[in-house]
Amino acid sequence: MANIGVMGTGYVGLTTAVCFSDLGHKVVGFDIDTKKVTTLKSGISTIHEEGMSELIAKNLNNKNLEFTDSITDLSGCDFVFLCVPTPQDSDGSADLSYVMKAANDLNGVLKKNTILVTKSTVPVNAWKDIAKALNREDVTIVSNPEFLREGTAIKDFFNPDRIVVGSNNLGKAQEVANLYNQKEVATIVTDNSSAELIKYASNSFLAIKLTFVNEIAALCESVGANADEVLLGMGKDSRIGSKYLQPGPGWGGSCFPKDVRALKVTAENNSINMSLLSAALDSNEKTFRRIADKVESELGNSLIGKNICVWGLAFKAGTDDLRDSPSVAVIERLIGRGASVVAFDPVIKSVDITSLKVVKSIEESYENADAILLLTEWKEFKLINPELIKNKLKNLIVIDSRNILDRKTWIKSGFKYIGNGW
Ligand code: UDX
Repeated sequence: MANIGVMGTGYVGLTTAVCFSDLGHKVVGFDIDTKKVTTLKSGISTIHEEGMSELIAKNLNNKNLEFTDSITDLSGCDFVFLCVPTPQDSDGSADLSYVMKAANDLNGVLKKNTILVTKSTVPVNAWKDIAKALNREDVTIVSNPEFLREGTAIKDFFNPDRIVVGSNNLGKAQEVANLYNQKEVATIVTDNSSAELIKYASNSFLAIKLTFVNEIAALCESVGANADEVLLGMGKDSRIGSKYLQPGPGWGGSCFPKDVRALKVTAENNSINMSLLSAALDSNEKTFRRIADKVESELGNSLIGKNICVWGLAFKAGTDDLRDSPSVAVIERLIGRGASVVAFDPVIKSVDITSLKVVKSIEESYENADAILLLTEWKEFKLINPELIKNKLKNLIVIDSRNILDRKTWIKSGFKYIGNGW
Protein backbone atom coordinates (compact mmCIF):
# COMPACT_ATOMS: atom_id res chain seq x y z
CA MET A 1 0.00 0.00 0.00
CA ALA A 2 1.16 3.55 -0.73
CA ASN A 3 1.35 6.88 1.06
CA ILE A 4 -0.91 9.19 -0.94
CA GLY A 5 -1.47 12.92 -0.59
CA VAL A 6 -4.50 14.64 -2.11
CA MET A 7 -4.33 18.40 -2.60
CA GLY A 8 -7.80 19.92 -2.66
CA THR A 9 -10.75 18.15 -1.01
CA GLY A 10 -13.56 19.35 -3.23
CA TYR A 11 -15.83 17.00 -5.13
CA VAL A 12 -12.97 15.26 -7.04
CA GLY A 13 -10.32 15.44 -4.30
CA LEU A 14 -12.53 14.22 -1.48
CA THR A 15 -13.80 11.28 -3.54
CA THR A 16 -10.21 10.41 -4.55
CA ALA A 17 -8.86 10.64 -0.98
CA VAL A 18 -11.67 8.66 0.62
CA CYS A 19 -11.80 5.93 -2.02
CA PHE A 20 -8.03 5.41 -2.08
CA SER A 21 -8.06 5.11 1.73
CA ASP A 22 -10.87 2.55 1.43
CA LEU A 23 -8.56 0.52 -0.81
CA GLY A 24 -6.08 0.41 2.09
CA HIS A 25 -3.68 3.19 1.11
CA LYS A 26 -2.56 5.72 3.75
CA VAL A 27 -4.09 8.99 2.57
CA VAL A 28 -3.66 12.59 3.69
CA GLY A 29 -6.26 15.01 2.36
CA PHE A 30 -5.03 18.61 2.32
CA ASP A 31 -7.11 21.74 1.89
CA ILE A 32 -6.46 25.45 2.50
CA ASP A 33 -10.01 25.80 3.82
CA THR A 34 -9.58 25.17 7.58
CA LYS A 35 -13.36 25.09 8.14
CA LYS A 36 -13.74 22.37 5.52
CA VAL A 37 -10.84 20.38 7.08
CA THR A 38 -12.45 20.62 10.52
CA THR A 39 -15.78 19.36 9.16
CA LEU A 40 -14.08 16.45 7.37
CA LYS A 41 -12.08 15.55 10.48
CA SER A 42 -15.41 15.17 12.30
CA GLY A 43 -16.46 12.55 9.72
CA ILE A 44 -19.00 14.73 7.91
CA SER A 45 -18.92 15.02 4.13
CA THR A 46 -18.66 18.53 2.68
CA ILE A 47 -20.26 17.42 -0.58
CA HIS A 48 -23.62 15.80 -1.38
CA GLU A 49 -22.55 12.28 -2.37
CA GLU A 50 -24.47 9.19 -1.25
CA GLY A 51 -22.35 7.08 1.14
CA MET A 52 -19.52 9.62 1.43
CA SER A 53 -19.88 10.42 5.16
CA GLU A 54 -19.97 6.72 6.03
CA LEU A 55 -16.77 6.07 4.06
CA ILE A 56 -15.05 9.07 5.65
CA ALA A 57 -15.94 7.93 9.19
CA LYS A 58 -14.90 4.33 8.46
CA ASN A 59 -11.46 5.31 7.15
CA LEU A 60 -10.81 7.95 9.79
CA ASN A 61 -11.47 5.23 12.33
CA ASN A 62 -9.14 2.69 10.71
CA LYS A 63 -6.46 5.40 10.46
CA ASN A 64 -6.14 5.07 6.66
CA LEU A 65 -7.39 8.61 6.21
CA GLU A 66 -6.59 11.96 7.72
CA PHE A 67 -7.25 15.59 6.79
CA THR A 68 -5.00 18.60 7.27
CA ASP A 69 -4.64 22.26 6.38
CA SER A 70 -0.86 22.08 6.73
CA ILE A 71 0.83 21.42 3.38
CA THR A 72 3.97 20.04 5.04
CA ASP A 73 1.90 16.98 6.04
CA LEU A 74 2.24 15.91 2.39
CA SER A 75 6.05 15.61 2.67
CA GLY A 76 5.92 11.88 3.43
CA CYS A 77 3.80 10.95 0.42
CA ASP A 78 4.98 8.81 -2.51
CA PHE A 79 2.16 10.18 -4.69
CA VAL A 80 0.45 13.58 -4.49
CA PHE A 81 -2.81 14.03 -6.44
CA LEU A 82 -3.54 17.59 -7.57
CA CYS A 83 -7.31 18.05 -7.22
CA VAL A 84 -7.59 21.82 -7.02
CA PRO A 85 -10.23 23.77 -8.99
CA THR A 86 -9.72 24.67 -12.65
CA PRO A 87 -12.56 27.20 -13.08
CA GLN A 88 -13.38 28.95 -16.30
CA ASP A 89 -11.86 32.24 -17.45
CA SER A 90 -14.14 34.81 -19.12
CA ASP A 91 -13.00 33.65 -22.58
CA GLY A 92 -13.89 30.02 -21.76
CA SER A 93 -10.31 28.91 -21.20
CA ALA A 94 -9.40 27.04 -18.03
CA ASP A 95 -8.06 29.20 -15.20
CA LEU A 96 -4.90 27.40 -14.04
CA SER A 97 -3.98 29.81 -11.25
CA TYR A 98 -4.94 27.35 -8.49
CA VAL A 99 -3.00 24.53 -10.17
CA MET A 100 0.09 26.70 -10.65
CA LYS A 101 -0.01 27.95 -7.06
CA ALA A 102 -0.36 24.39 -5.79
CA ALA A 103 2.59 23.19 -7.89
CA ASN A 104 4.68 26.10 -6.65
CA ASP A 105 3.74 25.50 -3.00
CA LEU A 106 4.65 21.82 -3.36
CA ASN A 107 8.18 22.54 -4.62
CA GLY A 108 9.78 22.62 -1.18
CA VAL A 109 7.43 20.01 0.33
CA LEU A 110 7.60 16.92 -1.90
CA LYS A 111 10.16 14.31 -0.91
CA LYS A 112 12.64 13.02 -3.52
CA ASN A 113 11.13 11.05 -6.44
CA THR A 114 7.53 11.75 -5.46
CA ILE A 115 5.07 11.30 -8.32
CA LEU A 116 2.83 14.35 -8.83
CA VAL A 117 -0.51 13.26 -10.33
CA THR A 118 -2.76 15.80 -12.05
CA LYS A 119 -6.35 14.67 -11.40
CA SER A 120 -8.00 18.08 -11.98
CA THR A 121 -9.21 18.62 -15.54
CA VAL A 122 -6.37 20.62 -17.08
CA PRO A 123 -6.06 21.79 -20.71
CA VAL A 124 -3.84 19.87 -23.10
CA ASN A 125 -0.14 20.49 -22.39
CA ALA A 126 -0.81 22.10 -19.00
CA TRP A 127 1.53 19.43 -17.64
CA LYS A 128 4.45 21.38 -19.17
CA ASP A 129 3.48 24.56 -17.26
CA ILE A 130 3.01 22.55 -14.07
CA ALA A 131 6.50 21.01 -14.45
CA LYS A 132 7.93 24.51 -14.87
CA ALA A 133 6.08 25.85 -11.81
CA LEU A 134 7.14 22.83 -9.74
CA ASN A 135 10.73 23.11 -10.94
CA ARG A 136 11.80 19.70 -9.60
CA GLU A 137 13.79 17.40 -11.92
CA ASP A 138 13.31 14.42 -9.54
CA VAL A 139 9.51 14.65 -9.54
CA THR A 140 7.58 12.91 -12.34
CA ILE A 141 4.24 14.32 -13.50
CA VAL A 142 1.55 11.80 -14.35
CA SER A 143 -1.76 12.92 -15.89
CA ASN A 144 -4.67 10.87 -14.50
CA PRO A 145 -7.98 12.51 -15.45
CA GLU A 146 -11.10 11.65 -13.46
CA PHE A 147 -14.38 10.40 -14.98
CA LEU A 148 -16.52 10.76 -11.86
CA ARG A 149 -20.16 11.84 -12.22
CA GLU A 150 -21.70 13.88 -9.44
CA GLY A 151 -24.18 11.78 -7.47
CA THR A 152 -22.41 8.51 -8.40
CA ALA A 153 -18.79 9.53 -7.77
CA ILE A 154 -17.96 6.68 -5.34
CA LYS A 155 -19.54 4.07 -7.62
CA ASP A 156 -17.70 5.53 -10.60
CA PHE A 157 -14.37 5.48 -8.72
CA PHE A 158 -14.66 1.77 -7.89
CA ASN A 159 -16.23 0.82 -11.24
CA PRO A 160 -14.41 2.86 -13.89
CA ASP A 161 -14.85 2.11 -17.59
CA ARG A 162 -11.14 2.77 -17.96
CA ILE A 163 -8.15 4.15 -16.11
CA VAL A 164 -6.14 6.73 -18.05
CA VAL A 165 -2.56 7.55 -17.08
CA GLY A 166 -0.13 9.65 -19.09
CA SER A 167 3.55 10.47 -18.55
CA ASN A 168 6.91 10.63 -20.32
CA ASN A 169 7.88 7.89 -17.83
CA LEU A 170 5.51 5.00 -18.62
CA GLY A 171 6.72 2.96 -15.65
CA LYS A 172 5.67 5.71 -13.24
CA ALA A 173 2.37 6.06 -15.11
CA GLN A 174 1.77 2.35 -14.54
CA GLU A 175 2.58 2.79 -10.82
CA VAL A 176 -0.25 5.34 -10.59
CA ALA A 177 -2.62 2.97 -12.42
CA ASN A 178 -1.71 0.19 -9.98
CA LEU A 179 -2.94 2.29 -7.04
CA TYR A 180 -6.54 1.65 -8.19
CA ASN A 181 -6.05 -2.09 -7.77
CA GLN A 182 -8.34 -2.73 -10.76
CA LYS A 183 -6.49 -5.36 -12.77
CA GLU A 184 -9.48 -6.26 -15.00
CA VAL A 185 -10.26 -2.65 -16.00
CA ALA A 186 -8.90 -1.28 -19.30
CA THR A 187 -5.86 0.87 -18.56
CA ILE A 188 -4.69 3.40 -21.13
CA VAL A 189 -1.00 4.17 -20.54
CA THR A 190 0.00 7.03 -22.81
CA ASP A 191 1.78 10.40 -22.84
CA ASN A 192 0.69 13.40 -20.73
CA SER A 193 -0.92 15.39 -23.54
CA SER A 194 -2.99 12.47 -24.82
CA ALA A 195 -4.19 11.69 -21.29
CA GLU A 196 -5.24 15.31 -20.78
CA LEU A 197 -7.06 15.39 -24.12
CA ILE A 198 -8.95 12.11 -23.46
CA LYS A 199 -10.92 13.85 -20.70
CA TYR A 200 -11.94 16.89 -22.76
CA ALA A 201 -12.68 14.78 -25.82
CA SER A 202 -14.86 12.36 -23.79
CA ASN A 203 -16.92 15.04 -22.05
CA SER A 204 -17.31 17.09 -25.22
CA PHE A 205 -18.42 14.04 -27.20
CA LEU A 206 -21.05 13.23 -24.57
CA ALA A 207 -22.26 16.84 -24.66
CA ILE A 208 -22.51 16.71 -28.47
CA LYS A 209 -24.40 13.42 -28.20
CA LEU A 210 -26.89 15.02 -25.81
CA THR A 211 -27.18 18.05 -28.05
CA PHE A 212 -28.25 15.76 -30.88
CA VAL A 213 -30.71 13.99 -28.55
CA ASN A 214 -32.36 17.26 -27.54
CA GLU A 215 -32.59 18.40 -31.18
CA ILE A 216 -34.20 15.06 -32.12
CA ALA A 217 -36.70 15.64 -29.30
CA ALA A 218 -37.56 19.05 -30.75
CA LEU A 219 -37.97 17.55 -34.22
CA CYS A 220 -40.19 14.75 -32.89
CA GLU A 221 -42.58 17.33 -31.46
CA SER A 222 -42.80 19.02 -34.86
CA VAL A 223 -43.32 15.89 -36.95
CA GLY A 224 -45.54 14.03 -34.46
CA ALA A 225 -43.02 11.29 -33.64
CA ASN A 226 -42.27 9.98 -30.14
CA ALA A 227 -38.71 10.86 -29.00
CA ASP A 228 -38.61 8.14 -26.36
CA GLU A 229 -39.40 5.53 -29.02
CA VAL A 230 -37.01 7.06 -31.57
CA LEU A 231 -34.15 7.22 -29.04
CA LEU A 232 -34.92 3.72 -27.80
CA GLY A 233 -34.66 2.51 -31.39
CA MET A 234 -31.38 4.39 -31.87
CA GLY A 235 -29.87 3.10 -28.63
CA LYS A 236 -30.33 -0.53 -29.62
CA ASP A 237 -27.58 0.02 -32.20
CA SER A 238 -24.47 -1.02 -30.26
CA ARG A 239 -22.48 1.58 -32.18
CA ILE A 240 -24.69 4.29 -30.63
CA GLY A 241 -25.41 2.74 -27.21
CA SER A 242 -28.38 3.47 -24.98
CA LYS A 243 -26.64 5.77 -22.46
CA TYR A 244 -26.87 9.58 -22.65
CA LEU A 245 -29.94 9.30 -24.88
CA GLN A 246 -32.42 10.86 -22.42
CA PRO A 247 -33.84 14.25 -23.54
CA GLY A 248 -33.67 17.04 -20.98
CA PRO A 249 -33.97 20.83 -20.58
CA GLY A 250 -30.39 21.05 -21.90
CA TRP A 251 -27.14 19.74 -20.44
CA GLY A 252 -25.23 21.49 -17.61
CA GLY A 253 -23.19 20.92 -14.50
CA SER A 254 -19.70 21.86 -13.42
CA CYS A 255 -18.00 19.92 -16.21
CA PHE A 256 -19.72 19.65 -19.59
CA PRO A 257 -20.18 23.40 -20.26
CA LYS A 258 -16.72 24.23 -18.88
CA ASP A 259 -14.93 21.41 -20.73
CA VAL A 260 -16.67 22.10 -24.06
CA ARG A 261 -15.78 25.80 -23.87
CA ALA A 262 -12.18 25.03 -22.81
CA LEU A 263 -11.69 22.51 -25.63
CA LYS A 264 -13.06 25.06 -28.09
CA VAL A 265 -10.49 27.62 -26.88
CA THR A 266 -7.66 25.05 -27.02
CA ALA A 267 -8.62 24.22 -30.62
CA GLU A 268 -8.86 27.91 -31.58
CA ASN A 269 -5.45 28.57 -29.99
CA ASN A 270 -4.09 25.84 -32.24
CA SER A 271 -5.89 27.19 -35.35
CA ILE A 272 -8.31 24.26 -35.43
CA ASN A 273 -11.99 25.10 -35.90
CA MET A 274 -14.02 22.51 -33.95
CA SER A 275 -17.36 23.75 -35.28
CA LEU A 276 -19.36 21.01 -33.53
CA LEU A 277 -18.38 22.46 -30.14
CA SER A 278 -19.69 25.93 -31.00
CA ALA A 279 -22.82 24.40 -32.49
CA ALA A 280 -23.39 22.32 -29.33
CA LEU A 281 -23.10 25.34 -27.05
CA ASP A 282 -25.47 27.39 -29.24
CA SER A 283 -27.94 24.52 -29.53
CA ASN A 284 -27.93 24.02 -25.76
CA GLU A 285 -28.96 27.64 -25.26
CA LYS A 286 -31.77 27.07 -27.79
CA THR A 287 -32.97 24.10 -25.72
CA PHE A 288 -33.28 26.27 -22.61
CA ARG A 289 -35.35 28.67 -24.72
CA ARG A 290 -37.44 25.85 -26.23
CA ILE A 291 -38.48 24.61 -22.79
CA ALA A 292 -39.54 28.14 -21.77
CA ASP A 293 -41.43 28.42 -25.09
CA LYS A 294 -43.30 25.19 -24.32
CA VAL A 295 -44.55 26.64 -21.04
CA GLU A 296 -45.50 29.93 -22.69
CA SER A 297 -47.40 28.32 -25.54
CA GLU A 298 -49.43 26.20 -23.09
CA LEU A 299 -50.47 29.37 -21.22
CA GLY A 300 -51.94 31.43 -24.03
CA ASN A 301 -48.59 32.64 -25.42
CA SER A 302 -47.94 34.95 -22.51
CA LEU A 303 -46.29 34.33 -19.15
CA ILE A 304 -47.06 37.77 -17.74
CA GLY A 305 -48.61 37.31 -14.31
CA LYS A 306 -48.65 33.53 -14.60
CA ASN A 307 -47.65 31.34 -11.62
CA ILE A 308 -45.25 28.58 -12.61
CA CYS A 309 -44.39 25.74 -10.22
CA VAL A 310 -40.87 24.44 -11.00
CA TRP A 311 -39.75 21.04 -9.70
CA GLY A 312 -35.97 20.70 -9.53
CA LEU A 313 -33.11 23.23 -9.33
CA ALA A 314 -29.96 21.04 -9.37
CA PHE A 315 -28.37 20.42 -12.80
CA LYS A 316 -29.33 16.76 -12.40
CA ALA A 317 -30.79 14.49 -9.74
CA GLY A 318 -28.53 13.16 -6.98
CA THR A 319 -26.51 16.33 -6.50
CA ASP A 320 -26.76 19.73 -4.80
CA ASP A 321 -24.83 21.42 -7.60
CA LEU A 322 -26.31 24.51 -9.27
CA ARG A 323 -23.30 25.25 -11.49
CA ASP A 324 -24.50 25.80 -15.06
CA SER A 325 -27.82 24.21 -14.10
CA PRO A 326 -30.27 24.09 -17.05
CA SER A 327 -33.03 24.49 -14.48
CA VAL A 328 -31.64 27.90 -13.48
CA ALA A 329 -31.27 28.88 -17.16
CA VAL A 330 -34.93 28.04 -17.88
CA ILE A 331 -36.21 29.71 -14.70
CA GLU A 332 -34.38 32.93 -15.59
CA ARG A 333 -36.10 32.90 -18.99
CA LEU A 334 -39.55 32.33 -17.43
CA ILE A 335 -39.05 35.22 -15.00
CA GLY A 336 -37.70 37.37 -17.83
CA ARG A 337 -40.98 36.80 -19.67
CA GLY A 338 -43.07 37.99 -16.73
CA ALA A 339 -43.85 34.76 -14.87
CA SER A 340 -43.83 34.35 -11.10
CA VAL A 341 -41.85 31.18 -10.36
CA VAL A 342 -42.02 29.09 -7.20
CA ALA A 343 -39.44 26.29 -7.12
CA PHE A 344 -38.92 23.20 -5.00
CA ASP A 345 -35.86 20.94 -4.92
CA PRO A 346 -35.42 18.05 -2.46
CA VAL A 347 -31.84 19.13 -1.70
CA ILE A 348 -31.35 22.77 -2.73
CA LYS A 349 -33.17 25.20 -0.46
CA SER A 350 -31.96 28.57 -1.75
CA VAL A 351 -30.90 30.08 -5.06
CA ASP A 352 -29.60 33.57 -5.78
CA ILE A 353 -32.09 34.52 -8.51
CA THR A 354 -34.01 37.78 -8.14
CA SER A 355 -37.74 37.24 -7.56
CA LEU A 356 -37.48 33.43 -7.56
CA LYS A 357 -39.25 31.92 -4.55
CA VAL A 358 -37.75 28.64 -3.34
CA VAL A 359 -40.05 26.76 -0.96
CA LYS A 360 -39.18 24.13 1.63
CA SER A 361 -42.01 21.71 0.82
CA ILE A 362 -43.36 20.48 -2.48
CA GLU A 363 -46.89 21.25 -1.28
CA GLU A 364 -46.11 24.99 -1.22
CA SER A 365 -44.75 24.84 -4.78
CA TYR A 366 -47.97 24.04 -6.67
CA GLU A 367 -50.47 26.17 -4.68
CA ASN A 368 -52.48 28.19 -7.23
CA ALA A 369 -50.07 27.28 -10.06
CA ASP A 370 -50.97 27.83 -13.71
CA ALA A 371 -48.62 24.98 -14.67
CA ILE A 372 -46.08 22.55 -13.21
CA LEU A 373 -42.70 22.37 -14.98
CA LEU A 374 -40.42 19.45 -14.06
CA LEU A 375 -36.77 20.26 -14.78
CA THR A 376 -34.66 17.88 -12.62
CA GLU A 377 -35.28 14.14 -12.60
CA TRP A 378 -35.50 13.61 -8.82
CA LYS A 379 -37.31 10.37 -8.10
CA GLU A 380 -39.40 12.19 -5.45
CA PHE A 381 -41.38 13.80 -8.26
CA LYS A 382 -42.32 10.41 -9.72
CA LEU A 383 -43.99 9.52 -6.40
CA ILE A 384 -46.39 12.49 -6.47
CA ASN A 385 -50.05 11.41 -6.83
CA PRO A 386 -51.76 13.92 -9.18
CA GLU A 387 -55.15 13.05 -7.68
CA LEU A 388 -54.02 14.51 -4.35
CA ILE A 389 -52.71 17.79 -5.72
CA LYS A 390 -55.02 18.66 -8.61
CA ASN A 391 -57.47 20.74 -6.54
CA LYS A 392 -54.65 23.08 -5.49
CA LEU A 393 -53.73 24.23 -8.99
CA LYS A 394 -55.34 26.90 -11.14
CA ASN A 395 -54.73 24.88 -14.35
CA LEU A 396 -54.10 21.13 -14.72
CA ILE A 397 -51.00 21.40 -16.91
CA VAL A 398 -47.73 19.49 -16.31
CA ILE A 399 -44.68 19.92 -18.55
CA ASP A 400 -42.17 17.12 -17.96
CA SER A 401 -38.83 18.11 -19.55
CA ARG A 402 -37.28 14.79 -18.41
CA ASN A 403 -40.11 12.42 -19.44
CA ILE A 404 -40.01 10.73 -16.02
CA LEU A 405 -43.66 11.08 -14.85
CA ASP A 406 -46.21 8.40 -15.58
CA ARG A 407 -48.13 10.06 -18.43
CA LYS A 408 -51.26 7.86 -18.17
CA THR A 409 -51.70 8.52 -14.43
CA TRP A 410 -51.46 12.28 -14.86
CA ILE A 411 -53.82 12.33 -17.85
CA LYS A 412 -56.29 10.11 -15.95
CA SER A 413 -56.33 12.73 -13.18
CA GLY A 414 -57.35 15.35 -15.69
CA PHE A 415 -53.96 16.92 -16.37
CA LYS A 416 -52.74 17.97 -19.79
CA TYR A 417 -49.38 16.16 -19.90
CA ILE A 418 -46.67 17.64 -22.15
CA GLY A 419 -43.52 15.57 -22.52
CA ASN A 420 -40.16 16.45 -24.11
CA GLY A 421 -40.15 15.09 -27.64
CA TRP A 422 -43.83 14.10 -27.93
C1 UDX B 1 -19.66 14.57 -16.27
C2 UDX B 1 -19.06 13.31 -16.91
O1 UDX B 1 -20.09 12.35 -17.10
C3 UDX B 1 -17.98 12.74 -16.00
O2 UDX B 1 -17.37 11.61 -16.63
C4 UDX B 1 -16.92 13.81 -15.76
O3 UDX B 1 -15.89 13.32 -14.91
C5 UDX B 1 -17.57 15.04 -15.12
O4 UDX B 1 -18.60 15.53 -15.98
P1 UDX B 1 -21.38 15.22 -14.40
O5 UDX B 1 -21.02 16.62 -14.78
O6 UDX B 1 -21.47 14.85 -12.97
O7 UDX B 1 -20.29 14.21 -15.07
O8 UDX B 1 -22.78 14.96 -15.06
P2 UDX B 1 -23.46 13.87 -16.03
O9 UDX B 1 -24.14 12.86 -15.21
O10 UDX B 1 -22.49 13.41 -17.06
O11 UDX B 1 -24.58 14.79 -16.73
C6 UDX B 1 -24.17 15.95 -17.45
C7 UDX B 1 -25.41 16.65 -17.96
O12 UDX B 1 -26.06 15.86 -18.96
C8 UDX B 1 -26.46 16.91 -16.89
O13 UDX B 1 -27.07 18.17 -17.10
C9 UDX B 1 -27.48 15.79 -17.12
O14 UDX B 1 -28.78 16.13 -16.69
C10 UDX B 1 -27.43 15.69 -18.63
N1 UDX B 1 -27.89 14.38 -19.15
C11 UDX B 1 -27.17 13.27 -18.88
C12 UDX B 1 -29.04 14.34 -19.94
O15 UDX B 1 -29.70 15.36 -20.18
N2 UDX B 1 -29.43 13.15 -20.46
C13 UDX B 1 -28.73 11.99 -20.23
O16 UDX B 1 -29.14 10.94 -20.75
C14 UDX B 1 -27.57 12.05 -19.41
